[in-house]
Order: sequence, then C-alpha cells, then structure tokens
Amino acid sequence: MFLDFKQLSASEKQSWLNSAIGPRPICFASTMDANGQVNLAPFSYFNLFSSNPPIVIFSPLKSANQNPLKHTLQNVIEHPECVINLVDYSMVAQMSLSSCAYPKAIDEFTKSGFTKAAATMVQPPLVKEAKIQLECKVIEIKSLGDGPGAGQLVIAEVLCMHVAESILGNDKKINPAQLNLVARLGGDWYCKVDAFNLFEINKPNKQLGMGIDQLPEGIRNSQILTGNHLGLLANYHELPAVDPAFNDERLKNIIQYYGISPTEMERELHLYAAELLNDNRIETAWQILISLENV
Ligand SMILES: Cc1cc2nc3c(=O)[nH]c(=O)nc-3n(C[C@H](O)[C@H](O)[C@H](O)COP(=O)(O)O)c2cc1C
Repeated sequence: MFLDFKQLSASEKQSWLNSAIGPRPICFASTMDANGQVNLAPFSYFNLFSSNPPIVIFSPLKSANQNPLKHTLQNVIEHPECVINLVDYSMVAQMSLSSCAYPKAIDEFTKSGFTKAAATMVQPPLVKEAKIQLECKVIEIKSLGDGPGAGQLVIAEVLCMHVAESILGNDKKINPAQLNLVARLGGDWYCKVDAFNLFEINKPNKQLGMGIDQLPEGIRNSQILTGNHLGLLANYHELPAVDPAFNDERLKNIIQYYGISPTEMERELHLYAAELLNDNRIETAWQILISLENV
C-alpha cells in the first residue's frame, strides 16, 4: 500500500500516522491560566529532545471543531510553566477521562479524581498519583500551521524531577518493570510496559562492532539465523578466538552425529546458536559457530 499525503484528508493523515508512529509516551500536562485556573490534559505527541539542556516537547494540535485553542495551549501562552506527569498503568482510565473536552472553567483534576500536590519550582500542581513528575519552564511555543491537526509545539525545559521511591530498584535507578509506563498507539490502542515485555540489548561496543559485512559468509547467509541474531553477533569487535576450555555436550553430539553431512551439521549448529542467541547467550553462541568454522 502506498499513501501520498497530498491525497489524504487531515483526519486520514492523523489516523495513519498515529498508527504507524508508536508507542508514544504520554505527557500528562498540568497548566494554569493567568488567573490561577488549573487544567490537566494528556498529550502523546510528546518526547525528550535534549538532555543538556533538558528539553521536552509536546504538541496540542489545532482541531477543526475546536476554536479557540486547546486550554493547555492557551494556559502556557498566559503562564509559561507546566508540570509533565508520566502516566503509568494504574492511572490510565482516569487519564483518559481527563481528555474529555470539558469547558475551561472545569478543573480536570476534579473530573478525573486525581489529587493536586504543590510543585517546588513552578505554580501548576503535580498529579500526586504519578510516580514521576517533571516541573518545567516553557521556553518557546512554535506553531506548525493553522489548519486542523496542525501541531503547536510547546518546548519546555525541565527544571526538576520527582521520582517515587517505589519505582527505584536496588541500584536506586528507575526500574521500568516497577514503573509500568503506558503509551499510546493508533485508534483506541495503548500498551503498557511490564516484566513480560521488557528486554535488554547490550549497547554497541565502546570498540566498534565488526558489522554484519564482516561475519563469516556461512553465518551471514544462514537460512536459520535472523537479522536480530546477526546483529547480536556483529556487535562483537572482532571474530572471537576459539576458547580451548569450551566444552559442550550438545556441540560434541552434533559434530559426531552429523559429521558426515556438512550441510546438516551447519543447520543443526545454527539452530543451536539461534536458541542461545534468543537467550542472549552471545559468547556461547559464538563458540558454537566458530567451532563449525574449525571442524
Ligand atoms: C492518551 C491521549 C493522548 C492525547 N494526545 C494528544 C496530543 O498529542 N495532541 C492533542 O492535541 N490532543 C491529544 N489528546 C486529546 C487531548 O487530551 C484533548 O483534546 C483534551 O481535551 C485537551 O485538553 P485541553 O483543551 O484542556 O488542553 C490526547 C488524548 C489522549 C487520551
């Protein structure tokens, strides 16, 4: 399917892009107008764009049926501060409720049942239930257009951050399995981060990874190993040496059993290496694969 954006309506563009670009983190923004009237609303057109200076951007869109601007945008124009509360699974239904287009005089904290807590460096309140709150100064507002769906970038500098003790691991860092962030996808879909869908990938080596082009041909062209497997192997700086102390029963059995058929032996060893790589046992997988090079 091919989509030429010039041929699409505003709502079609939004629908396709919302489904393609995700999951998007949710900025749950607490703001205040010049008279001190508080507003709370979620925005998933949101991300971190600089860590030093610490800059986040979220984007209230112009909508066809909403004139004047979204209350959040009106507020940050009047009072250039906000608190960005991060949304975890325990908050998601109340957060969604707060996105109703209530009249300006209505405080979404009351409607959605969240509790206000005083911020330290800005005037809009924190959402007490959030496990992370960022107190921000709005440094610039950049309009990307006037039509329906046009983003209005709220560029904000993070002044300070509150982190609940309950989401810190033993190493005193944020444990994503305890934080349970939620994120927005297309349509009505959300996803949540939990222990079952988290995984780690080692950062590329401080030394450069050798690259897939440098893998031995038999590995690179394997019918068994996937792109993810090759990516893990090619993150090594150079081909590892055979470890003389490496002793593996299954490897011995494969070599003994399939010794007469190099093609089948390669297939079995690649299947074994794939299992190891799926378990992130990269060093062992390499030992299996280089033993094949040396048979
Ligand atoms: C999870 C979620 C994410 C949203 N993201 C955005 C967004 O990025 N931009 C936007 O304009 N509206 C977004 N909305 C809709 C706004 O929250 C909604 O228009 C809200 O009424 C705006 O409130 P306000 O007028 O008080 O600022 C989102 C709604 C939900 C539930």
